Formats: sequence, C-alpha cells, structure tokens
Amino acid sequence: MTRKFSGDRLLVATHNKGKLEEMAHLLEPYGVQVVGAAEMDLPEPEETEDTFVGNARIKAHAAAKATGLPALSDDSGIMIDALNGAPGVYTADWAETENGRDFMMAMSRANSELEAVKAAHPRLAQFCCTLVLAWPDGHDEVFPGTMPGHLVWPPRGDNGFGYDPMFVPDGYDITFAEMDRWDKNKISHRARAVKLFVDGCFG
Ligand code: IMP
Repeated sequence: MTRKFSGDRLLVATHNKGKLEEMAHLLEPYGVQVVGAAEMDLPEPEETEDTFVGNARIKAHAAAKATGLPALSDDSGIMIDALNGAPGVYTADWAETENGRDFMMAMSRANSELEAVKAAHPRLAQFCCTLVLAWPDGHDEVFPGTMPGHLVWPPRGDNGFGYDPMFVPDGYDITFAEMDRWDKNKISHRARAVKLFVDGCFG
C-alpha cells in the first residue's frame, strides 16, 4: 500500500528549471504547488549511483532529511539503443563544461557516437524518468515513466530543455522541442511517472 501525501505544497528536490516547471504544471490540477530545491537553499547532492532510482533516492532523501518535509525527486535521462543505453544516468554529465551545461554539445556527442557505430535509422531511444517521494523517517515510494521515440539530426525546435530538440516521440513527427511545451507535458516520461505518483499518493 502506497503511503499517501497530504498537503498543498510539495518540495521538489531539483535545481533543474525545466524539470521544475514541468512538474509544477503537471501537479497544478491536483491543487499542489511545488517548491524547488533552490528556493529552500538546498545543496545539490552528488549523484553516485549507477541507476536512475539510486540517484533519485539520494536526492529525495537528502532533501527530506535537510528540511523535515516529504520531498519528491526526479532522476531522468535518455537511453539510446545503438549506444547500449548510453548516456542513461550520465545524460547530464555529457553536457558538463567548465562554464556550466551545454546541451548542444551533448546532443552533438550523441549524434557523433551514433555515426561512429554506423547506427541504422530510425535511431531508437527512450527518455526515462524515475520519481522518488521520500519522507523524513526514511520511507520512500518509487514511480517510473518512459517515453519511446527516435533521434534526429540536426536538432529542431526551441521549446523544452536538455535533449528535447533531437527527440521525436513515438506517434509524432515533430521533436519534443517543436511541440507546445504543455503538449509535451501530456505525453512525456515525466507525465507518465507523475500519473503513477498521483494515483499512488493522492486521495
Ligand atoms: P539528472 O536527472 O539531474 O541526472 O539530469 C537528467 C538530464 O536528462 C537532464 O539534465 C536533461 O538533459 C535530460 N533530460 C531529462 N528529462 C528530459 C526531458 O524531458 N527533455 C530533455 N532532456 C531531459
């Protein structure tokens, strides 16, 4: 039996503006207002695990412990079939530079690696999201969501964030970054995980 969440404000343990905006939009219909980790002055814990759930647990438990409040974290990334699932949990790392994150560089790397292995088209990939809701007493609940699709090059569109400009979700011929942001939010890996979270923890 899933432990219920009560309250109208939820701490979302992320410093990623794109994730936070999508989460705020997804939870608004349930009367829940989200508060981000930056607003609470929380540090970003190091993500030392090699699974989405492991890293999501690190972030959610660190925030719950620091604040005494239930905290929801999101660990996500893109898994590319022809690259044996890479970058996976290292999706954000591929964008890391001395001056912050550069997602054009990360997307170029994904494309170069696909070229190097002469990957066939369509270049299948899936976005994965694992949400963890952790309570200060150490209890947690896990909610996964995935969205299958394929990658295109060059990148297309200005909406969204991260790898959105090169990802075309199944059933569409436009990238996540060409979609209206809130249309993406109806079908994405994050939307699917949030649906499980809402079904399990609310009501
Ligand atoms: P992490 O969960 O903080 O390890 O970072 C996940 C990374 O995956 C983000 O920095 C994004 O680059 C990428 N990512 C996760 N979800 C999405 C999405 O919905 N669109 C585009 N990129 C995403």
